Amino acid sequence: MKLYATLLTLALGWGGAVGLTHAAEPIIIKFSHVVANDTPKGKASLYFAKLAAEKTHGRVKVEVYPNSTLYKDKEELEALQMGAVQMLAPSLAKFRPLGVKEFEAFDLPFIFDDYAELHRVTQGPIGQSLLTKLEAKGVKGLGYWDNGFKSFSANSPLRGVADYKGLKMRIQSSKVLDAQMRALVAIPQVMAFSEVYQALQTGVVDGTENPISNLYTQKMHEVQKHLSLTNHGYLGYAVITNKKFWDELPADVRGQLDAAMKEATVYANKIAKQENDDALEMVRKSGKTQIYSLTAAERLALKRALFSVHKEFAPKIDEALIQLIYKETNFDPAKL
Ligand code: LMR
Repeated sequence: MKLYATLLTLALGWGGAVGLTHAAEPIIIKFSHVVANDTPKGKASLYFAKLAAEKTHGRVKVEVYPNSTLYKDKEELEALQMGAVQMLAPSLAKFRPLGVKEFEAFDLPFIFDDYAELHRVTQGPIGQSLLTKLEAKGVKGLGYWDNGFKSFSANSPLRGVADYKGLKMRIQSSKVLDAQMRALVAIPQVMAFSEVYQALQTGVVDGTENPISNLYTQKMHEVQKHLSLTNHGYLGYAVITNKKFWDELPADVRGQLDAAMKEATVYANKIAKQENDDALEMVRKSGKTQIYSLTAAERLALKRALFSVHKEFAPKIDEALIQLIYKETNFDPAKL
């Protein structure tokens, strides 16, 4: 009986190895992120999963885990470096633990006025050279996915700079965002994205900043009486993978996944603005929060108040890089 079982196991094993009894198991890519499926990043990761299955003819299965179901903000990067997940798309504000400080440039308030200026950086040589810097950390950057421009929300109206004074504001873990809130005499509080709704609801913090797609899909507008359309900073992502995992993929599969990522990136960056516009419309329709559009003078006052953050951080991040970005985006401090 035992001999029979052993022979059977050997036969099945041999058959399996040459693909006689069943097809080879697919390569699993766990793609973890912290936002809802119904956001630019959520949709783009699902689209990538679909393209990856198609282009590799089922040899790769991308499993998307949204809404921090696997990991919260801080844990994600560690999980990637340890190989527990294979793909992430953290916001650029969250790259500091990887030891590549240059990504902090993206957090500087008002550094990009619109998506066109931003794309000259992310989709050009500057963006590429930043991704390359990740490789020494065992991380491979595959592309930049947009979300959009952040707006401030709180339970009190946010018009002039003085309105931020003393408010406890949730931020992502970023020294630049910390300085941004302090420049407004607000009190920054670092918190994982998955905890923000409850913190707003219970009054642990008074307000926050995020693109409207994040605000709406986390229902933050239900616990924030005021939303001010400041568009004062960019929030977007770099899709990253574990470099060793990526380099060890069969070359043909890697090529197919590269092609899938290129298409998914075009898709992500095409839908992001519309997703945010639609979310704003839904927030408006909900009637739960009052939406305020700044006057040009109010926006300029905010920009001026926040320029101190550039002065403080340009030398810490990389002065030459910041100047290069200013050139690409026509950001002119002399005009402030
Ligand atoms: C946040 O923590 O506010 C964002 O980084 C969430 C995200 O991934 O868009």
